[in-house]
Amino acid sequence: MSTVAIQRGNGPAEENRRDIVRVYVWELPVRVTHWLIVLSIVLLSVTGIYIGHPFINVAGPAGDHFLLGWVRAIHSYSAIVFTLSVLSRVVWMFRGNRYARWDKFIPVARRRWRGLWAALRFYLFNLRKPPGFIGHNPLAGLTYVLVFALYFLMIATGFALYSSGAHVDSPMRAFKFLIPLLGGLQTARLLHHIGMWLLLGFAVHHVYSALLMSVVEGNATTESILSGHKFVPREDLVYSGYRFVDRKDVPDANV
Ligand code: HEM
Repeated sequence: MSTVAIQRGNGPAEENRRDIVRVYVWELPVRVTHWLIVLSIVLLSVTGIYIGHPFINVAGPAGDHFLLGWVRAIHSYSAIVFTLSVLSRVVWMFRGNRYARWDKFIPVARRRWRGLWAALRFYLFNLRKPPGFIGHNPLAGLTYVLVFALYFLMIATGFALYSSGAHVDSPMRAFKFLIPLLGGLQTARLLHHIGMWLLLGFAVHHVYSALLMSVVEGNATTESILSGHKFVPREDLVYSGYRFVDRKDVPDANV
């Protein structure tokens, strides 16, 4: 870790100098799966919208242009990338560094439970500065549990839809058991469609809040998903989560 002193605010330079530490937060598997998930969601949404509503008509026999066929093929290959990336990220929740772990999503530690409240206060404009967690703040982490639940809904409904039209010899027919569990094919299709809009809505919020936190905290949040590094005040390594709230009752250190 390297240490640099930076100038913040408009006051005299010396007064505003703080110790900033470069921390390696997002490891390669986290960054690679993140961008593969982004790319596959874009491809799956564009092709999925066309599959649900094939609005382009092409003259001539279907086999000559095979337009819907290509769109479905792109959807299927992107679905493989999406499914493998989601599963890899889940595995990394048990093998990765402390910022990638499952307990940054499901709050079990007391510190993170209390940080939930501080993060909510910040989002509700009741706290001027966000609590200074280095990785996900506890509220963001908990929201990602819902996002992963949506990913698995998309995978389950997608595999159910695929199994219904799969060739008699195809191993994909093994997923037929999902159809009754999801309330039948039409319900699966509806859930698959609604899930897409929820994920696209999340993406808008996600990009907005990444940019917001980048500006408010000035710690390269947005850049960190490319470089892996964040630049945080040294005190966050000791009092993570309580930089801007009352921490007299938090004598213990870190995470
Ligand atoms: C975030 C991920 C995904 C998005 C946004 C997405 C989106 C969509 C949409 C909007 C449709 C059209 C639904 C309709 O008829 O109204 C669709 C169809 C379909 N999706 Fe997905 N999908 C995703 C993941 C998957 C996965 C993981 C699979 C797994 C195989 C899959 C397989 C299918 C199949 C088989 C169809 C029906 C294709 C057809 O009828 O020709 N999708 N998808």
